[in-house]
Parts: sequence; structure tokens; C-alpha cells
Amino acid sequence: MSDMIRDSQRCCPGNGVSENGSSGSVNRETLENGSRAVIVTGASSGLGRAIAKSLAGEGFQVFGVGRNFGEDAWPENFHKIVMDMNRTGAFYEEIRGLVKRENIYALINNAGVGYYGLHETLNPAKIHEMVTINLEVPMVLAQMTLRSLKKNHGYMINISSVTAKQANPHGCAYGATKAGLSSFGASLFEEARKYGVHVCTIHPDMAKTNLYRNADFCQGEDADTYLLPEQVADAVRMILSGPESMTVTDVTLRPQRHQIRRKNH
Ligand SMILES: NC(=O)c1ccc[n+]([C@@H]2O[C@H](COP(=O)([O-])OP(=O)(O)OC[C@H]3O[C@@H](n4cnc5c(N)ncnc54)[C@H](OP(=O)(O)O)[C@@H]3O)[C@@H](O)[C@H]2O)c1
Repeated sequence: MSDMIRDSQRCCPGNGVSENGSSGSVNRETLENGSRAVIVTGASSGLGRAIAKSLAGEGFQVFGVGRNFGEDAWPENFHKIVMDMNRTGAFYEEIRGLVKRENIYALINNAGVGYYGLHETLNPAKIHEMVTINLEVPMVLAQMTLRSLKKNHGYMINISSVTAKQANPHGCAYGATKAGLSSFGASLFEEARKYGVHVCTIHPDMAKTNLYRNADFCQGEDADTYLLPEQVADAVRMILSGPESMTVTDVTLRPQRHQIRRKNH
């Protein structure tokens, strides 16, 4: 990944890379990051927390959404939005205000929820929650932020899943929401690319987070059988560091080995 970051920086002069080629700070216009706002949904844990911390480290004003942030220490340029996104009316109102106040440069649609098992064992509330959090919210936030993203030639990065690209027995509805999100991103790129908006979909395989709290399986034990949240955060930084003239539209990240563990109940 770090090689990809360095290569993309080398091809665009004035990108904040020192003369010896070391990456230093990743974004090519780091000096301006302090006035750029980035929204990260699901910033309170897992992939979103790693992405939010990494982008705050890059100097962006990071607005992170979640319900339970715990006791984590955050830098001054991280701003918590403690809200339940299932309460869409209040949540969309909050984001509408944020978009009016702040200079939105990037939207990272990361929050997600997964319920697994035979489809007949789910219920309407679980299906509704997955559709809301994994698909509806990203599309609505995209609609709300697009004018700013166009103005700033900014970025939308959707955290989808490898399940978007395959059949998912015991995860039919979850995979369908992710396939929808990937489809949305691909179409939106075609619609918005002429306005300078970069749209990228990241497809991670299993990562070491709490996503599988509702499942009867979880990540393997060996370190080469799962992704780390920081590795996904590195991919986000790599995408944001690309030259203006190029968009990375699709990144798939997989652990080297495949292993899933059944939980003992
Ligand atoms: N882990 C994996 O193996 C994997 C693989 C492929 C794709 N993904 C995707 O990666 C994304 C991040 O998941 P993760 O693995 O980091 O799982 P996670 O640790 O469970 O994080 C999910 C995040 O979404 C937030 N969220 C969920 N429902 C919410 C709600 N109603 N209101 C506000 N925030 C809500 C959570 O906030 P609170 O906990 O504070 O409510 C949390 O910050 C998801 O879209 C997931 O589908 C994960």
C-alpha cells in the first residue's frame, strides 16, 4: 500500500512529497486540510474509527458519526456527532446544518450493520435497519453533500464489501445492501466525474472489528486471515492522495489466507 501511495505522489508535482521521495504527509495539498471538512460515518469503532483517526492526523476537520464513542482520546480537529442514524429525520437535519456551515471536501460512507443467518430467520426490523444504514443513508448523504464535493473537486468513498461481488448464502440481505452501494458508487462516478468529483468504492474482505457481533462466525485467529482497520484507513489515504486527473474507482482488500471461525455458543 505504501508503495502505491508513493507512486501516486511521484506522478504529481507539488504534492507535498519531499525531494527524497518519502511520503511525509499524504494529501498533496496538506496545508489546506485544516479548512477542509470530512464526514466519516461509523467513526466510533472498527474501520471508521481508524479512518477518522488517520484523516484527523492528516489535519482535516473530521466530523465523525456514531452512537457510542467510549473513552477514546481524540484530537481537537475531530468533532463527534453522537446520533442514531436510524432516526433518519433528526440525523439528516443535523447533516443539512453541517453542510451549510462547513466546507465539505470528502464524505466517507462507512457505517454499516450486518445480520446473518438463513434469510427466513431475519425479521423486518433487521432488514429495514440494514437497508437504512448500509444503503439509504449513504445515498442521502451523497445527495446532501454533492454540491460541496463538486465545488471542491472532492471525494466520496463508500465502504462496501466483497459480499457485493458474490452470492452470500446466510448473508443475502446484507450482501444485497452492499451490492446496491457498489452499484450506486459506480453510477454516481459516471454522473459526477465531469464535475471533478472522485467516487471510490472500497470492497474489504473480513476485517478484525465487531461487525460480526450478531453472527455465529467471526474472523480467523491467524494474523494473515483478516484485515486490520488501519489497512483500510491506509487505502483511504491512498485514494485521497491521488492526482486531480485520476480517480481510483474500486479497491478490493483481502487477507492473504481465507479462514472463518465458528463461534461456540
Ligand atoms: N469488518 C469486516 O469484516 C467488514 C468487511 C467488509 C465490509 N465491512 C464494512 O465496513 C464498515 C464498518 O464496519 P466495521 O467492520 O468497522 O464494524 P463496526 O466495528 O461494527 O462499526 C460499525 C460502525 O457503524 C456505526 N453504526 C452502525 N449503526 C449505526 C447507527 N444506527 N447510528 C450511528 N452509527 C451506527 C457504529 O457506531 P456505534 O457502534 O457507535 O453505534 C460503528 O461506528 C461497514 O459498512 C461494514 O459493512 C466490514
